[in-house]
Amino acid sequence: MTQRFSTDVLVIGGGAAGLSAALHLAEHARVTVLCKGGIESASSHWAQGGIASVMDPEDSVAAHVRDTLVAGAGLCDEDIVTATVSAAPRAIAQLGRWGVNFDHTDNEFHLTREGGHSFRRILHVADATGKALTETLTQRVLDHPNIDLLNDRVAIDLINLNKFGRFPNRCAGAYVLNRTSDHVEVFQARFVVLATGGASKVYLYTSNPDSSTGDGIAMAWRAGCRVANMEFNQFHPTCLYHPHAKSFLISEAVRGEGGILRLPDGERFMQRFDERLELAPRDVVARAIDHEMKRLGLDCVYLDISHRSPDFIATHFPTIQARCLEFGIDMTSEPIPVVPAAHYTCGGVLVDGNGATDVPGLYAIGEVSCTGLHGANRLASNSLLECLVFGEAAARDIMAHLDDAAVEATIPHWDESQVTDSDEDVIIAHNWEELRRFMWDYVGIVRTDKRLQRAQRRIDLLKAEIHEYYSHYRVSNDLIELRNLITVAELIVRCALARPESRGLHFNLDHPDTRPTAADTILFPGYSDQIDVLRPVAG
Ligand code: FAD
Ligand code: SIN
Repeated sequence: MTQRFSTDVLVIGGGAAGLSAALHLAEHARVTVLCKGGIESASSHWAQGGIASVMDPEDSVAAHVRDTLVAGAGLCDEDIVTATVSAAPRAIAQLGRWGVNFDHTDNEFHLTREGGHSFRRILHVADATGKALTETLTQRVLDHPNIDLLNDRVAIDLINLNKFGRFPNRCAGAYVLNRTSDHVEVFQARFVVLATGGASKVYLYTSNPDSSTGDGIAMAWRAGCRVANMEFNQFHPTCLYHPHAKSFLISEAVRGEGGILRLPDGERFMQRFDERLELAPRDVVARAIDHEMKRLGLDCVYLDISHRSPDFIATHFPTIQARCLEFGIDMTSEPIPVVPAAHYTCGGVLVDGNGATDVPGLYAIGEVSCTGLHGANRLASNSLLECLVFGEAAARDIMAHLDDAAVEATIPHWDESQVTDSDEDVIIAHNWEELRRFMWDYVGIVRTDKRLQRAQRRIDLLKAEIHEYYSHYRVSNDLIELRNLITVAELIVRCALARPESRGLHFNLDHPDTRPTAADTILFPGYSDQIDVLRPVAG
């Protein structure tokens, strides 16, 4: 018999978005937060640089809006950008009340700088902002009598009553694998908030933790939500290059504080690509590094901040310094070997200004969503900001409608009568490896039509195999993630093929120009074709 749990609001994901939404909601409702793993399973925990907010009197909301629009290459929703950026100081004040202590100098916030920002406006806790934020918010959540935080729970699918032939069309909870007991449980709720993060694990090399497998995007798609702009995958220019350094980021703040990109012979090269040098937006810097690595057949390039004093480096970058030293690299006296890696999913589940999706009762916040804030390329340190602003907005909207919805108690049990235990887990591992490799090779920083079509053919084959496997065997964590990854890969390639131009993070050698009109790529579930919605080009 399937075990059942009931709550007012089910929040799936315990990163910055999920934790902040839960804390806002818990003042008025019972909340259950589910996480795939522990605190480290969230990208939020690994965030380094910080959170963007206008704090300097010389800076302005208008300048932050302008920088965001420029990075977004014509695809940002200006109203959403203005609302989010304007809400940033309020979000920072709320974090302060929850207990997050940002770095200060002389009683003022210390503000660092990152690519694409025209002012210093990044608040941070040394180079481990995400750790400080998630530890503080998690403790608040654990202390709150109205919140249950359950780790090692993997949501498999959302429950849309429509799928059981019942009306109205509404999300009423989720089927969830308990990784400890290995049983599937039903979580019934009046409202469900997806806060499952991004999908960068679809690529072989990534800065993200293992849990970034696009589960929320795939679940929402299966539940009937539109998904948009999946072709805009952000590659962070500088991840540590070392055979044993899995997924370690070298923060953009290192370049913000003067770090210089060099070739192995010491030559600086960014001046050949952009007048903003190392602080050009990420797509520009990542493509420049990719170009130099391919041109010269290099394994990596180098990031050099050894001209700053050892004291400065130890104060501003203690985590990065310690990690580099573990691999025998002393960043105070030598350059750090770096390569680009998949970092952020700009597209996702299409939502309105409150994080509401197409399916009533279902919200999506944080990296899983596509709000219109990032457009074709996210500006550094705008992501944690989006998590906090939309976490609050979704909570407010849910509270306003809480009394309109009841828990649906007759959701069918999880049926395992037609499946058996898998006898070939190796197939899952091989398919996972194959998928991530061809996504890296064919759908990476530089694309062509032929590479995208090759990827599409491989996806078609793998999809059939994975679907068959899923239909016959009991679910496991790896199988759930693989099923979601193949869906996300397909959504990325479909969006990329639908965009015959280069814009922001999507660069296609067969279509190097940018079209005069900017358009989102919106995929409708149940339809094979995507429809573009036109937006005026910013600037
Ligand atoms: P996450 O923080 O990724 O949390 C996702 C949660 O969902 C996790 O708890 C996970 O366990 C859970 N989950 C996933 N799938 C399931 C499932 N099926 N069932 C149950 N639970 C599930 N952005 C900035 O603005 N500033 C920075 O300085 C910065 N630095 C970064 C550094 C690194 C190394 C990385 C990887 C990202 C960085 N980013 C930064 C981006 C930013 O951290 C993320 O976009 C943001 O934290 C996403 O938050 P989130 O709450 O949406 O998702
Ligand atoms: C970084 O510290 O470079 C990451 C910042 C971000 O992804 O916004």
